[in-house]
Amino acid sequence: MKIQGKKIFLTGGAGFIGSHLARKFVNLGAEVVVYDNLSTGVKEYLKDLPNISFIKGDILDTKLLESSMKGCEIVSHHAAELEVFTGIGNTIHEMRVNIEGTLNVLNAAIKNDIQKVVYASSGGVYGQAEYTPEKETHPLMPQWPYGVAKLAGEKYCQQYTQLYGLPTVSFRYGIVYGPHEWYGRVLTMFIKRVFSGKAPVIFGDGSQRRDFVYVSDVVDANILGIENDSVSGMRFNIGGIAHVNVVDIANMVTKLIDPSLKPIFDDPKPGEASKHQPERKRLPAELKDFILDISLAREKLGYDPKISFEEGVTKEIKWYKSDPSIWDYDPRV
Ligand SMILES: NC(=O)c1ccc[n+]([C@@H]2O[C@H](COP(=O)([O-])OP(=O)(O)OC[C@H]3O[C@@H](n4cnc5c(N)ncnc54)[C@H](O)[C@@H]3O)[C@@H](O)[C@H]2O)c1
Repeated sequence: MKIQGKKIFLTGGAGFIGSHLARKFVNLGAEVVVYDNLSTGVKEYLKDLPNISFIKGDILDTKLLESSMKGCEIVSHHAAELEVFTGIGNTIHEMRVNIEGTLNVLNAAIKNDIQKVVYASSGGVYGQAEYTPEKETHPLMPQWPYGVAKLAGEKYCQQYTQLYGLPTVSFRYGIVYGPHEWYGRVLTMFIKRVFSGKAPVIFGDGSQRRDFVYVSDVVDANILGIENDSVSGMRFNIGGIAHVNVVDIANMVTKLIDPSLKPIFDDPKPGEASKHQPERKRLPAELKDFILDISLAREKLGYDPKISFEEGVTKEIKWYKSDPSIWDYDPRV
């Protein structure tokens, strides 16, 4: 289905990935309805965009959700509770937003005769890698409630395709990065620290490998998923070309901002913070390696990620430098 001239309902459209999608959809000639409760989203990210209407709403508000979707043809479901610690500390809240909220979106899509639903899943559905790169057929043993909820959302999408003929496609993203990224994960912490003259703090030996996918590559995958009519009910890994370990990330950030700073290695217990960096705790049940195999998306969608780690981090730093106060307030902690 072509995007031009369509009306797209975008949940989470004021968030990091959602705001980039909104821009791309508008550029491709679509009309966009952003539906977001602004719990973490930033409405200013959308302020210069034409053809956008913004509805402050919660995906748990079934009535408002259903009526707001009226007249739309495509749904891009990106609203979610992402904070792993919140999910662990309040699993019921996590379950409600990420599972019940997704079911509400699917039910509203059926009622509104939606022709395509794109669901933002996560590589977090796999848990600890038994091999890398991880294929879509890798065992599914999520480490955190977040991954359980994302997996449930994906399964419901597949079921709604089978039961009701609702065309859905799910994307298991790697670690998405780029301008508008929210503060709290390793790259953002390193950028913020190095920018303020502090050395990056690496947990453990820093050999943990991660799949970083630049946000414009994720946006491209979304366009391909919407425009392809033969992938209903499917799920795809959407990783990037940057497979880097935590030492590589620290070295890239210092190289681009302040090469005189050398990383500090520390080994706080899971759930505890480092004395060098009290602002953020180490995740419990941290993943060792997390690298996605994207050959299925390449084959079926023609997905072809392009942005190198150096280029992507350079762009994220440039954006951060334009207003460093953006990461002063972190609604997630
Ligand atoms: N960022 C990543 O690396 C990554 C990786 C894998 C999957 N994802 C998925 O991609 C999607 C977007 O993630 P993001 O990084 O842009 O996060 P984000 O927090 O920037 O965006 C989420 C948006 O959803 C909104 N929201 C949250 N709860 C809501 C609710 N109950 N009702 C309505 N709106 C609500 C927030 O205000 C925010 O604007 C999520 O579904 C996430 O699970 C992201």
